[in-house]
Amino acid sequence: MTSAPLLETRALRRNFGALAAARDIDFRLEAGARHALIGPNGAGKTTFINLLTGVVRPTAGVILMNGRDITAVPEAERVKLGIARTFQINRLFRRLSVLENVYIAVAERVGAAPSMRRPAGLRRDVVEESMELLDTLKLSADAARRVSELPYGRQRLVEIAIALGLEPRVLLLDEPAAGVPSAESHIILDAVERLPRQIAVLIIDHDMDLVFRFAQRITVLVSGAVFATGSPREIGANPDVRAVYLGQVARG
Ligand SMILES: Nc1ncnc2c1ncn2[C@@H]1O[C@H](COP(=O)(O)OP(=O)(O)OP(=O)(O)O)[C@@H](O)[C@H]1O
Ligand SMILES: [Mg+2]
Repeated sequence: MTSAPLLETRALRRNFGALAAARDIDFRLEAGARHALIGPNGAGKTTFINLLTGVVRPTAGVILMNGRDITAVPEAERVKLGIARTFQINRLFRRLSVLENVYIAVAERVGAAPSMRRPAGLRRDVVEESMELLDTLKLSADAARRVSELPYGRQRLVEIAIALGLEPRVLLLDEPAAGVPSAESHIILDAVERLPRQIAVLIIDHDMDLVFRFAQRITVLVSGAVFATGSPREIGANPDVRAVYLGQVARG
């Protein structure tokens, strides 16, 4: 018996005026997968993630989760179904502490009051779970610091902690190391590589070393359409991919 993939799209399309930012995308993300989405700037990678999360509505096509049609399910409901993401540009509460940021996410999931500032409503279990997440991401030492005081690379880790606080079944990472100085980017790569195995990860990244080391499967998007999909070995050896994309990157 073959079971339905965790996430699947069929002929998923999104037009912005005359531009087709997603063109009839057929895509499968398996439970626990390590999958990368690559392609030139403007290929439609972020748009595809926005379609999966419900931020952007498709013009046509369907999105399925475990075989169930979720195309019309609103963004907040999809989070509850287990679809979490980080953003290409971060959206943290910069004036709150690292712990408070994660607390808010965990509290939201378990239905607790979303503030640590009212001692009466403070939930020990939420604090403990938040601290454990920070520990996993090697952020415990920064728990009490304001997000705005952290180096940018560590701020991006906080975003991953928040996404994990939602207990996702799939984590969509849109350029998690974007804007992080190269001296710090290894902390992001380490964290991404240490994500719990049961969570499926779809990562967008322009760093081909990371992509080829991390992914079991790679999908190449060009002009909104799937240009190729396969194992890293297949994609690396595909002459068309090399010509349109890898060659371009190598020439820089
Ligand atoms: N809300 C929008 N309205 C109009 N056009 C949009 C919108 N969002 C994206 N686009 C266009 O859709 C195309 C795909 O954009 P998208 O951001 O998905 O590409 P990307 O592959 O993520 O690029 P990058 O690597 O630069 O992040 C681009 O031409 C972009 O200008
Ligand atoms: Mg993008």
